[in-house]
Amino acid sequence: MKKRVLSGIRATGRLHLGNYLGAVKGMLELQKNPEYETFYMVADLHTLTTPYDKNTLSQSVRDVIIDYLAAGLDPKKSVLFVQSHVPEHLELAYLFSTVTTVAKMQHLPTFKEKVKQYPENVTMALLNYPVLMASDILIYKASLVPVGIDQEPHLEVTREIARRMNQEYGTDFPEPKRFATKGEYIPSLTGEGKMSKTVEGSYINLTDDLPIIKSKIAKIPTDAGKGSEIVGGVKTLMEFVELFEGLEEREGLERLYKTTGVRYSEIKEKLAGAIYRELEPIQKRRAELEKDPEYVDRVIREGAEKARKVAQETVAEVREKMGLR
Ligand code: TRP
Repeated sequence: MKKRVLSGIRATGRLHLGNYLGAVKGMLELQKNPEYETFYMVADLHTLTTPYDKNTLSQSVRDVIIDYLAAGLDPKKSVLFVQSHVPEHLELAYLFSTVTTVAKMQHLPTFKEKVKQYPENVTMALLNYPVLMASDILIYKASLVPVGIDQEPHLEVTREIARRMNQEYGTDFPEPKRFATKGEYIPSLTGEGKMSKTVEGSYINLTDDLPIIKSKIAKIPTDAGKGSEIVGGVKTLMEFVELFEGLEEREGLERLYKTTGVRYSEIKEKLAGAIYRELEPIQKRRAELEKDPEYVDRVIREGAEKARKVAQETVAEVREKMGLR
């Protein structure tokens, strides 16, 4: 049997460059690899764990599916679907919650961060977030998960649930590993922290045109162009140069920085062009997809059917092994 891959992105607005480099590029790479069967979803149920707008949710979900397609995920090669269309995820999450302690969930760094961010919103669903994520992955018996490094604690929980289930009930869940990409940590354009939708001025959208990209890149804070140590915004700039123009280009510039000095206006102009060249085909495909809503509907419908078939088998097996007959 082929090894399986599962990944998902929450539906909190359009994708940005950080999602693209940190998750979608890994998804694309694994989709190309014939050794894997790939399942990629939009985690709409997870979106409900933090404040959201019920009136725009379904459009946000659709937007992520369209971004997936525009970026090159292909429904002939990957199962593309919406999490809530496969309600078996919820059933398995409940069964998994019986082998998961509350204390463990409360101590996860990801949970603590959300508690700090939304102290009024510490719900059961939030506490259960990692259990649902474990279900997302294990319901397909996926062994590889292309996600950013910030999701590592959730994968640890997933592995622990797999082990417990296998021990207690004799299931055969794999212990999934994270599939890391080169762009797993994309720095913020502000020069501090990571690129994030919730930090203004930190991100580039997949839909940004060349003038917008130029003006955002121009705002990366820099210095006099010369020095012995590369830090802060200059380091961020160099990381982007490496991601979009290659390691050699970065090393060349870093050598100049430490000797004769660099001119940021030229570097930034060239970098903005390189970023736009990567995004332009995605934007063109998106414009095409927006003209064909029936196609998008069909992808979503057929994805759910394919995903459900596998999910139902796993749930039937787990129910049986747990004594629910
Ligand atoms: N928690 C992930 C994130 O915030 C989204 C997600 C939900 C996910 N279920 C998943 C990622 C399953 C990978 C696999 O990025």
